[in-house]
Amino acid sequence: MISEQTWWKEGIVYQIYPRSYKDTTGSGVGDLQGIIEKLDYIASLGVTIIWLNPVYDSPNDDNGYDIRDYRKIMTEFGTMEDFNLLLTEMKARGLRLVMDLVVNHCSDEHQWFQESRKSRDNPYRDYFHWWPAEKGIPPKRWSYFDVDENAWKYDAQTDAYYLHYFAVKQPDLKWENPEVRREIYDMMHFWFQKGVDGFRMDVIPFISKDISYPELDAKEPHEFIAFYANGPKIHEYLNELNREVISKYDAFTVGEGPGISINQALDFVHEDRKEMDMFFHFDLMSLDRQPGEVFMMRKAPWKLSEFKKIFNDWDSAFAKAGWGSLFLANHDFPRAVSRWGNDSAAYWKNSATLLQTFLLTMRGTPYFYQGDEIGMSNVRFTDIDDYKDINTINRYENIKKNGGDLIAFMESEKHAARENARTPMHWDASQHGGFTTGEPWIRLNPNYASGVNVASQEVEEYSILHYFRKITTVRKSNLALVYGDYECLHPEHEEVYAYTRTLGGECFLILLNFSDVTVTYSLPSHIQYNRKTKIISNDLILDDQTYKEFMLGAWQAVVYKLEN
Ligand code: GLC
Repeated sequence: MISEQTWWKEGIVYQIYPRSYKDTTGSGVGDLQGIIEKLDYIASLGVTIIWLNPVYDSPNDDNGYDIRDYRKIMTEFGTMEDFNLLLTEMKARGLRLVMDLVVNHCSDEHQWFQESRKSRDNPYRDYFHWWPAEKGIPPKRWSYFDVDENAWKYDAQTDAYYLHYFAVKQPDLKWENPEVRREIYDMMHFWFQKGVDGFRMDVIPFISKDISYPELDAKEPHEFIAFYANGPKIHEYLNELNREVISKYDAFTVGEGPGISINQALDFVHEDRKEMDMFFHFDLMSLDRQPGEVFMMRKAPWKLSEFKKIFNDWDSAFAKAGWGSLFLANHDFPRAVSRWGNDSAAYWKNSATLLQTFLLTMRGTPYFYQGDEIGMSNVRFTDIDDYKDINTINRYENIKKNGGDLIAFMESEKHAARENARTPMHWDASQHGGFTTGEPWIRLNPNYASGVNVASQEVEEYSILHYFRKITTVRKSNLALVYGDYECLHPEHEEVYAYTRTLGGECFLILLNFSDVTVTYSLPSHIQYNRKTKIISNDLILDDQTYKEFMLGAWQAVVYKLEN
């Protein structure tokens, strides 16, 4: 059965972290004009949708995820005129725009919170979660970015605690209050009326809370996250949001879904439920982390069989209903090529292009993060002063305060930190990679000067960039790669990830060697064909003369079309 066809299922998403994309003013911070300047480049990649990280007015405690005014553009990024121009110029190139919707919390500098904290009877009091101090210390809630990991902050002005699942400057909005929901829906209409095409919904499962605040047995962050994601009214709110806003536009939503387990997946995205269109699950992002931990890397390397199992399970969850999203990296995680490939000189190019091939031949909407198209890799900062991210800085403070192992933490951050993704985009080999003429807000990865940049890869015949353009074209010209059935051929194989995608009479065979050595791979006997045509490969074919056996070089990716 083919899933109902729509543009957002057939789309290829390119995520832009505006702060680090292109600076046109010399401020050291990227801006909207910088994105406008690069739109021809973006369109040339073959991507069709841009997801923009938050561009709203913000004091930037968490780089825009702490919104002070939902209807104003962050001064550092430009003006509303710049935004309108961006949208017009995108539409002229056939590109769609997806905005970030951050409504689990806002900034403590938002007018709602400024009012709310003034007095217990302020009209905005009930926009946030307050716990009056006379009831004692509130039941423990874990916080992501708090130095003490405490999600309750005492506010002396009204002798009460407010809830913040994230930083102290990110108070949680109270969705239980219909006024809050109304404000949010109005704000979404405001952006839709400008012409945006959808929203990526930040930590969306957390919006519904058990406001009786029961004591919890939860011991570690993952248990809290699962609890946070299962609030009593989550489906009611998502359904209402869909009905009141999304259903009125030709738009889609993709939720960030921490804590959503696979058996709950369809409750969020089944077409009949009218809630969200897809969401990002966190199973892959947890694969190389310590059990129970959110940010610390595990000691043992991840195995390909574990990696495949995640994709197999999630593909089957959406095989008959709903739709999946595919991503290997974003602004919260390390770089794809460093994490799932091998970024050392010998394997960098093949592993970066193999990962591109993978995302673009799987079922689901693929999301790429800026720089993936040129194989940008982890910066691996070693000095705490190089980090600007509240997440790294506050966890460092926490460990220091509690006499923990700072050396182990810094080592783990080299591989886990969000900054790995957030260093500026590499446009050319000139100073600061052509990102800014001023002082960049964060240090660049010095490898911009040695081939990891757009300008060099434009002139290099077999570059990661040129491969990306070819493989996006392959995706877009073969609906079987979007909607076709997926079959993983050897789930236990630890070097080769092999699968087929089949739609009607069409069958594609994808072979990916996720290892540093040459491997001979044999097809299982049930795969029968008379003729195979190579559609694309990221390296020379070593030997595919025999019917069943394929010789794959290190990190080689090949896509064949099989015909009978
Ligand atoms: C999401 C965002 C992340 C942010 C957090 C709090 O996880 O992706 O960048 O820090 O929410 O808004």
